[in-house]
Order: sequence, then C-alpha cells, then structure tokens
Amino acid sequence: MRDRVMSVAISHIEDTPLHETLYQFDETPLLARQRQQESNARSYPRRIPLALKRAKGIYVEDVEGRSFIDCLAGAGTLALGHNHPVVIAAIQQVLSDELPLHTLDLTTPVKDQFVQDLFGLLPTELARQAKIQFCGPTGTDAVEAALKLVRTATGRSTVLSFQGGYHGMSQGALSLMGSLGPKKPLGALLSNGVQFLPYPYDYRCPFGLGGAEGVRVNLHYLENLLNDPEAGVLLPAAVIVEVVQGEGGVIPADLDWLRGLRRITESAGVALIVDEIQSGFGRTGKMFAFEHAGIIPDVVVMSKAIGGSLPLAVVVYRDWLDTWLPGAHAGTFRGNQMAMAAGSAVMRYLKEHDLAGHAAAMGERLGEHLRILQRDFPQLGDIRGRGLMLGVELVDPQGAVDSQGHPPVHRQLAPLVQRECLKRGLILELGGRHGSVVRFLPPLVITAVEVDQVAEIFGRALAAAVASL
Ligand SMILES: Cc1ncc(COP(=O)(O)O)c(C=O)c1O
Repeated sequence: MRDRVMSVAISHIEDTPLHETLYQFDETPLLARQRQQESNARSYPRRIPLALKRAKGIYVEDVEGRSFIDCLAGAGTLALGHNHPVVIAAIQQVLSDELPLHTLDLTTPVKDQFVQDLFGLLPTELARQAKIQFCGPTGTDAVEAALKLVRTATGRSTVLSFQGGYHGMSQGALSLMGSLGPKKPLGALLSNGVQFLPYPYDYRCPFGLGGAEGVRVNLHYLENLLNDPEAGVLLPAAVIVEVVQGEGGVIPADLDWLRGLRRITESAGVALIVDEIQSGFGRTGKMFAFEHAGIIPDVVVMSKAIGGSLPLAVVVYRDWLDTWLPGAHAGTFRGNQMAMAAGSAVMRYLKEHDLAGHAAAMGERLGEHLRILQRDFPQLGDIRGRGLMLGVELVDPQGAVDSQGHPPVHRQLAPLVQRECLKRGLILELGGRHGSVVRFLPPLVITAVEVDQVAEIFGRALAAAVASL
C-alpha cells in the first residue's frame, strides 16, 4: 500500500499537468437568484458556489453537468454516500407500505426496529441501561434535550464545555460553543451557566506543553476545578465534550485524557455528555468515537448519519438520568418514519460491512498520503483526526514559532486550497481557528482508489495554492 501511496503522492508534485482542465465558477442565474433571495446568514454557498442536480455515492453533479467528489458529505451525514441503494430501498418501502409519515412520538414497527438497531450498536454496558428520547430533527435540538435532561436529573444548572467545541446553533447549544463569531452579536446566552475548559488540543496545547504532560496538566486543572471549594465555579450538571472536535478543527482528544475525564466526572457525580453528532456511526474507525477510549458516557447525543441522510436526532442516556417529566422535551417532528427506516438500513449496512474498520483503513491511507505530501509542503503543519474524520492545519512556515515550536496558522492559504480543490472537482470544507484547517469527511464507502484520487487532487490544488501566494 505504501508504495502505491508514495507514487501517487510524488505524482502530485512532479506531474502537475500543464493543461489541466479547471472548473470556473462564474455566477449562473440560479446562483444569482440564491444570492439575492436567500438570507445573508447562508453559509456553504459562499465557499462552494454550486447548484447541485444529482448525486450518487461519493459524487455530486451540478446543473452544468460537472462532477465533484464530495468530501463534505452533508457535513459528515452521508455515511453511505449519496442515494445508496439500501437507503433508497428503505425509503421506498415506507412509501409503498403506506406508513404514516408523521407520527409525533407514537410508536410504529419502523420506530421499534430503529431503537433495537441503535441499541444493538451501543456497548452492552450502555445498552443495558439505555433510554432514548427522540428529538426535533437537528443535532442542535438533541443537544438542547441533553441539557434539560442533566439539569433536571442533577438539580444543578451549570454545564462545562470545551474551548473549540461545537454543539449547534440554537441559543442554548450556542452557549456551549467555543467560537465567538456567532455568539458575539447576540450578547448574553446561557453564558452564566457555561464554564469553558481547555481542550486537549495537542498541536496548540492551551498550557503550551503538549504530549503526556499537556494531558496530565489538563486533567489536573479539571479535577481541581471540580473539587476546589474556592474554584468560583458551581458544581455543574454535566460536562459536554466532542471526542473528536469537528468544526473546531478536527482535533482528536487524547484517549488517556478521555479516560481521565470519565474518572473525574464520575467521582464528582457530574454527568458526562458525549456529542457524537459528527463522529458517530463508524466515522472514526469505531461505531462511536468514545469507544476508542473504552469509556461509557452518561449521555450520547446523535444525529447526522443516524437518519441515513434524512433529518433525525436522538439522545441516548443511562436510566438514572430519566427523571424529567412527561413532555419535558416535545417537538412536532420527532416521528420521521422515512428517516428511521433509512437510519436502520444504514446501521445494518455499517455493521454487516464493517464500515468502521473500512473507515479506519481508508483514514490511515489518506493520512499516509498527506504525511508524504508534508515532506514537500511545510505548510501542512499538523495532520490529525481519526478514521475518516481527518484534517490538516495549514501553517505559515515563515512565521514565528509558538512555545511548542509550531509555526502560526496560515490565514490565507486554506481558502485558496479549498478553491483550487473545487476547481479540480473536489469538495472539501474548512474548520478550526481562523478557518485554517482543511477537513476531509468523505462518505465511509470511499474506496482505496478514490482515496488516492482525493489525495492526488489535493496535492495538485495545494501546489497551485502555495504557488499563488
Ligand atoms: C458535534 C456537533 N454537534 C452538534 C451539531 C449541530 O447539529 P445540527 O447542525 O444538525 O443542528 C453539529 C453540526 O455540525 C456537530 O458537528
């Protein structure tokens, strides 16, 4: 595998075709209408100015007939890619059986099957004591539900969240967010109820240490905060964490740190909420990312891939937390049968085809490509992630290094790389501080050949972007 990876990586640099056909992105009437009529808050179309017509597997096609590899995949939603046959068949079955498409939270055979399939994926210790709440169909709403759940059960109101965290856009979930951009215009949210903690971001360690020492100090800080009567912080209802921060820049938490977090929260009687909205369902190489550390959270928040490309969100939690009252978290659209049927189909396919194992192998392959490219491009500062949740932090090799010896982020390069990728038919998204992390979130069904192709396009785009600086 390494030889193949090496030869593809080298070809990026040496064989950049002189007459490569590059897509141009002139504004079409359709895109112009979108710009005029849709809100100023629209986001993706600004960086990915495409009008899509068709999609299959890892590919999307725009109205002009151009094909793109989709390494955004609905922000990590499309585990099986676009329009996978098992997903389409499940949706068609719901329609041909004339199932009620809307059921509030009444049960149906499809819903019951979905719960059995989902509980079947959980670690046994969690499945044995699991309760599930169906939420409004966004990840954000499931985060809101989780907040209410833990606050009600513990009688405490505050929550600890992490710098760089992303948990959604409603005002409760937003109050847990690290990024200040979307919060600043709103003023006070739940800000009195949320305390932020340093995340174990190894490359830019908040304590300037990194490695095992950074992890040790981080845990010590947390333990002290929860146990010091003079900490100035109330004992919280919960700590909420992404095991791999996605939007925050694809930052995987150290596994010892996660085990320490579990130990400390458990001994303090604080619920541990793991947000698996983006990292769940095989993406990181395990069915749930927390399984890498062998921990059992108190609450797991899920959405994205769980609905098999349709909107669905749930909270799964240990039964000791189940003290909230009937109707404590209602919502009209909690009974989407097509999403549950599609979600069940995805879960079964993931399990039967060991897509978690496949994601681990493909992530390793892509990582290898990137590490080879890094030898020629010092702008690839940090390559990180788990499975098919990978990111590259772009840096300015000429800039002054920080206390860990790492150059500063390159604020201009990532958007250039993104645009050069798009011109070559590859959709990638950015994240992290100053949008300096290029993210790879392809469907989990991506093949080795397609991974090589992604790496090849990325290498060419990187070379073009660096040359244009
Ligand atoms: C970790 C995480 N939590 C919560 C959310 C919010 O989910 P949604 O956009 O469906 O509301 C996201 C979305 O990207 C996410 O990545």
